[in-house]
Amino acid sequence: MIDYTVDGDGVASITWNMTDRSMNVMNRASIAAFREAVDKAVQDKAVKGVIVASAKNDFVAGGDLVSMLEESKDPARALQNSFALQKLFRDIEKAGKPFVAAMNGTALGGGYEICLACHRRIAADNPKALIGLPEATIGLLPGAGGTQRLPRLIGVSKALPMMLEGKKVDPKAALALGMIDEIVAPADLLARAKAWILGEGQTGHVKPWDQKGFRVPEAANTPKGAQVFTAGNAMLRAKTMGNYPNAQYIMSCVYEGMLVDIDTGLKIESRYFVACTQSKEARNMIRSLFFSIGEANKLANRPKNVPTQAYTKVGILGAGMMGAGIAWAASSVGLQVVLLDSTQESADKGKAYSAGLLDKRIKSRRASEADKEKQLGLIRATTSYDDLKGCDLIIEAVFEDRAIKADVTRKAEAQLEPTAIFASNTSTLPISGLAEASSRPANFIGLHFFSPVDKMPLVEIIRGKQTSDETLARAMDFVKKIRKTPIVVNDSRGFYTSRVFATYVTEGLTLLAEGVAPAIIENAGKAAGMPVGPLALADEVSLELMHRVRTQTRKDLGDAYKADGSEPVLNLMVEKLGRMGKKAAKGFYEYPADGKKRLWTELGKHFPVKAEQPALADVIKRLVYIQSVETARCLEEKVVIDVRDADVGSIMGWGFPPFRGGTVSNIDTVGVQPFVAECDQLAQKFGARFTPPKLLRDMAAQGKTFYAA
Ligand code: NAI
Repeated sequence: MIDYTVDGDGVASITWNMTDRSMNVMNRASIAAFREAVDKAVQDKAVKGVIVASAKNDFVAGGDLVSMLEESKDPARALQNSFALQKLFRDIEKAGKPFVAAMNGTALGGGYEICLACHRRIAADNPKALIGLPEATIGLLPGAGGTQRLPRLIGVSKALPMMLEGKKVDPKAALALGMIDEIVAPADLLARAKAWILGEGQTGHVKPWDQKGFRVPEAANTPKGAQVFTAGNAMLRAKTMGNYPNAQYIMSCVYEGMLVDIDTGLKIESRYFVACTQSKEARNMIRSLFFSIGEANKLANRPKNVPTQAYTKVGILGAGMMGAGIAWAASSVGLQVVLLDSTQESADKGKAYSAGLLDKRIKSRRASEADKEKQLGLIRATTSYDDLKGCDLIIEAVFEDRAIKADVTRKAEAQLEPTAIFASNTSTLPISGLAEASSRPANFIGLHFFSPVDKMPLVEIIRGKQTSDETLARAMDFVKKIRKTPIVVNDSRGFYTSRVFATYVTEGLTLLAEGVAPAIIENAGKAAGMPVGPLALADEVSLELMHRVRTQTRKDLGDAYKADGSEPVLNLMVEKLGRMGKKAAKGFYEYPADGKKRLWTELGKHFPVKAEQPALADVIKRLVYIQSVETARCLEEKVVIDVRDADVGSIMGWGFPPFRGGTVSNIDTVGVQPFVAECDQLAQKFGARFTPPKLLRDMAAQGKTFYAA
């Protein structure tokens, strides 16, 4: 696990080498082995210095969350463990001989904190390596000295954003920030580390903060520090709305820790770290953002016994916004892409989208001209269905119109092998209905991408009534191939993501119809943790599009169609006032040329604000609970089968607040019984849409939860 050697010049190497894992991670066993090796090196008088290295492709990827969660069940023990780890790193720092981190690849979280404890950090010139303290992104904080050493090393104002945003940077950027000391060619890494130990290291092994008179330049009791913390706190508040206790704890660690000596600072950090591990926010984020996404990426729900499909050539019908994005995603992993549109001009425009993205990458040094040429060479922009011959998969992304979709389905299938899969990227039309145009409905499936495709990591896979297990498995293989995260749902109007996401927007419009002040609605959305308020979101989706989807739904459902409280708002905005949304620069907001959108000043004229306004907390509750209760309905109706997919889809698909863990975890966090009781109250006051489905009532009665405690 940890190799220990000493060479003839008295330089010891402690090499992380966890052969039973894909990456080195810090857990109880590896920390114990590391401790043992460190003690040996420190006690051996013949050892002049130590290289901490890795025998794997990366350095150390961070803490092992499984073991961390296990240990955090007993907070008192967790605190003792944390103190012990801090002591180990302090022993390195005060060893009286130099320690060098030889960072061959990625060093994140605890992995980078090992490097911080060393006296020098030398990184291999490896542009793929990531360096940083990303703990905040899963509700935690750097708890192995990171909050104390990084600000002491690079200054508070540079360290805070690194930790609060959990940024990961490449070695060049890390060097510029002062996070590492030098970059060398990969082949020279160990030799350079050794040379430093035997040279400058023999005198340079006392940390600045262990030298007399050391002061943190931006501590809170300096004029500059006071400024940094005041601005930082305000920014943090605006960004997190107080929803992320770990972010506040990071701030406190740095604020309090920089006013005291490092040993006291490390104790402060340990206490805040353990507090984080006990928070429901961290548990929710670790569960959904780490474990459930991990399972989805490993295709946990893929039907077994279907051989893995290797893809070489895919066809995309419609080179508009979505088709162009999907072409980018497929070509960027080396697949041949046939990008078809009704005119050559449109097809070329779709291909040009990839050229544009590649130009941006070249500018930011993430791609070369050769990469660009190679990737663009994979995309064939065409109007000819003949070119689709030999495609393993077709993804249809033409206009949202049944007749057009049926037409292109038939034309494409005529060129395909009988085994090929046909997928529709429709956002609203039920898949089973679209499959009627297909001569092989078992091979027909929904692959619902999100916009913009190059940024959005989720794909909602929709199984139609006749879709076979084999088609589902092979479609999942494609999603994995293009490095996106799949969730699997059954066919239903709006599927899962659009259906539940719509309840948030609809609730916002309903609140407006009830006379709630627009500013309260929008603030409640943001305070709930959603990326934007529901009215702003409606503008972005386009009021016109929402209106059109409703008209279609009404047509499809006939008497079964039920209008909701948002309908009069939408009708008035679109039909009478001609306010179509953001694209038209006219919606619930105005979009003046200076760029700063503001709520339309005349909204009050059309939607009079009532004298008595609800409390913000009550509005937040409505906006959040409506999404969870609709998700419970999706589970009851078997639109979603796996609760993890529901959680992952809600966070990655439409930005449901990560600290709530997703729409399902949110119910567990509130408690199923209280959630049902509160929904009943909401239903009584505001309507049957809040009525909990039988599934939830049964769970409440039996004291069940969605996830084991
Ligand atoms: P778009 O209007 O940007 O692109 C549609 C493209 O299809 C156009 O380039 C058009 O020329 C082409 N097209 C139309 N009829 C054709 C035909 N008969 N043969 C060949 N090409 C034809 O539309 P967008 O936004 O890309 O949407 C495409 C599909 O993706 C729709 O079904 C939409 O519901 C769905 N979708 C859209 C999302 C979005 O955010 N815009 C998100 C997820 C799905």
